[in-house]
Amino acid sequence: MSTELSRRLSAVIPDAALEIVALPEVPNIRLALLQASYPQHLLDSDTIAEIMNTPMYWAFCWASGQVLARFILDNPDYVKGQRVLDFGSGSGVVAIAAALAGAKQVVACDNDPLALLACAYNAELNGVKLVLASSWERYVEPTDLILASDVLYDRANLSWLELFLKRAPCVLVADSRIRDFSAEHYELLSSNNSFTLPDLDESQEFRRVRVYLGRAV
Ligand SMILES: C[S@@+](CC[C@H](N)C(=O)[O-])C[C@H]1O[C@@H](n2cnc3c(N)ncnc32)[C@H](O)[C@@H]1O
Repeated sequence: MSTELSRRLSAVIPDAALEIVALPEVPNIRLALLQASYPQHLLDSDTIAEIMNTPMYWAFCWASGQVLARFILDNPDYVKGQRVLDFGSGSGVVAIAAALAGAKQVVACDNDPLALLACAYNAELNGVKLVLASSWERYVEPTDLILASDVLYDRANLSWLELFLKRAPCVLVADSRIRDFSAEHYELLSSNNSFTLPDLDESQEFRRVRVYLGRAV
């Protein structure tokens, strides 16, 4: 287990620990995630405020990440031989799926340094190599495909959809946050129920994950 990740997690959430979990819907991928039995009842209001200020997205596998990883492994032709960038990688679940499915190169891009540490740790756990990028703006290498799961949690982030298509000819987005998602040059490919790990007991609405394909014209 990565001691640095464990240390940083327990500094924010006392008594929380990481555990290595095989994803229920993608059992060939294993990730270090927040222990499912973490003691929520011990959290006082100061700790909750600290968690809100320092969200540890990388300690969860978001429902959209699990669905997009499954989609990529079931449809490897999207990534095979391609230079892929996973925007907002978090734990690295989607980037790892792309590498397992035969991508030529996979860049895990996240502006949270701890997420990049988690990506590196989880990539090694799954026997794949990822390139790490801390800045979307500064990573300007040619890219064939952009992957993005659960990055539209804020409506302002919708503007990324257009930016993705300026950077790559093809984009796969998985989202459960914006029900009426419709954007120019994007089409709906699939819709599945899933869940976040550890399970946050989110409402049914946020368990419905849609996968979209964007193509530059
Ligand atoms: C909800 S998490 C999703 C993680 C992962 N894709 C998954 O599905 O499990 C969103 C991630 O986007 C990252 N993020 C947010 N804004 C970003 C930006 N401007 N550039 C790169 N990453 C960003 C966050 O740090 C976080 O790790």
